[in-house]
Amino acid sequence: MRSDLRRNGPRDVEGWLSAAPGAPRHDRRQAPLDGARPRHGRAATVEMARAAADFVRRHHTEEELGDPAPRLAEIDAELAATGTYTHTPRELVFGARVAWRNANRCIGRLYWRSLRVRDLRHLTEAAEIAEACADHLREAAPDGRIRPLITVFAPDAPGSPGPRIWNEQLIRYAGHVQRDGHIVGDPRNAGLTGLARRLGWRGGAGTPFDVLPLIVQRVPHEPPRWFALPPDAILEVPLHHPEFTWFTELGLRWHAVPAISNMCLEIGGVCYGATPFNGWYMGTEIGARNLADTDRYNLLPYLAHRLGLDTSTDRSLWKDRALVELNRSVLHSFDRAGVTVTDHHTESQRFLAHIAREESRGRTVGADWSWIVPPISGSATPVFHRLYDTTESTPSYVHHPEAHARARGEEWTAARRPTHRHDLV
Ligand code: ARG
Repeated sequence: MRSDLRRNGPRDVEGWLSAAPGAPRHDRRQAPLDGARPRHGRAATVEMARAAADFVRRHHTEEELGDPAPRLAEIDAELAATGTYTHTPRELVFGARVAWRNANRCIGRLYWRSLRVRDLRHLTEAAEIAEACADHLREAAPDGRIRPLITVFAPDAPGSPGPRIWNEQLIRYAGHVQRDGHIVGDPRNAGLTGLARRLGWRGGAGTPFDVLPLIVQRVPHEPPRWFALPPDAILEVPLHHPEFTWFTELGLRWHAVPAISNMCLEIGGVCYGATPFNGWYMGTEIGARNLADTDRYNLLPYLAHRLGLDTSTDRSLWKDRALVELNRSVLHSFDRAGVTVTDHHTESQRFLAHIAREESRGRTVGADWSWIVPPISGSATPVFHRLYDTTESTPSYVHHPEAHARARGEEWTAARRPTHRHDLV
């Protein structure tokens, strides 16, 4: 989608892998159930019936579908017979869009209605899922122009969780740990890179920008499998600078499509645990975080040196100056390549337009200031100068703590199985 959650919180080096507020971070012992907690039993059915009713009522009201009672009766019958229920294609589309609308960390929600939905709920096999993910990437950016798109695979069912994608995004760069401990590539993905190798991936060319294979698991009881992405599914933008020709020689690049693949889409009590979705990038995500953060590519000291800045004191503002040039390079390069990208000034204005539009329809927009305000020049954007309602609503995209563990490449082992409630149900 245009953007689900546009940026990493400023004090949150884990960024995209960070758990929902209040959720335990790295403590696997505390990790609650993954996904939709596919419990069964009466309590679970009652809970699901309530969530389904809330969702169906909202759907009928917003889309003016009339009396929801017949649909609710249908759902109750299906729930009584099977312990779950099946969304209609129209409900799925509405749910996926509203989940975007409800993403409090996302600055890019103005176009939430434009999200396109690929309904592949019949797919559960790892190989089919991997292939459909490659198709997703092709379809999301057929000619460099990016469209917000979500692909929905099989949901969790009572007592039988659905498939999972371990990668946090469909395209991510490997982090190759060297003998001396330093990392070539993206340190964020070192764990997943290690896992991919243990599963049999040869490790790519060893460059700083090797695209990781997809790691897909059909059900949590089976080991995950890896699948290399076909090159034609991977659109990348080489970085240049509008003035400094030497910038090109650095060989920097970034992928065009940010497609989050480890969040769960929760609609009316049903959890879709494998559901990659994408929008397009805001330049700062790449230029002020991915390539700049000290625990990511950490390029500022090197760029400052190339720019001839005085790095002996913070007060020369060398970091700030290097950041600006790196961000100019990102926007310039995407534009030059004809790939959709937005900038933080434009996006901030659009976000305020989104709030005004939603409020005119009687809806409140929840937002998390620490994610909405861009990581550079915050106070030069209008989103900085106000506060937001922090209420969270459903349908929603949720990060379950186990998804963080998977994206860190924490391996599936038989020994860990009993600690997962999935395996007890
Ligand atoms: N911040 C993430 C990244 O840099 C992408 C998150 C989604 N962003 C978006 N514009 N849809 O890869």
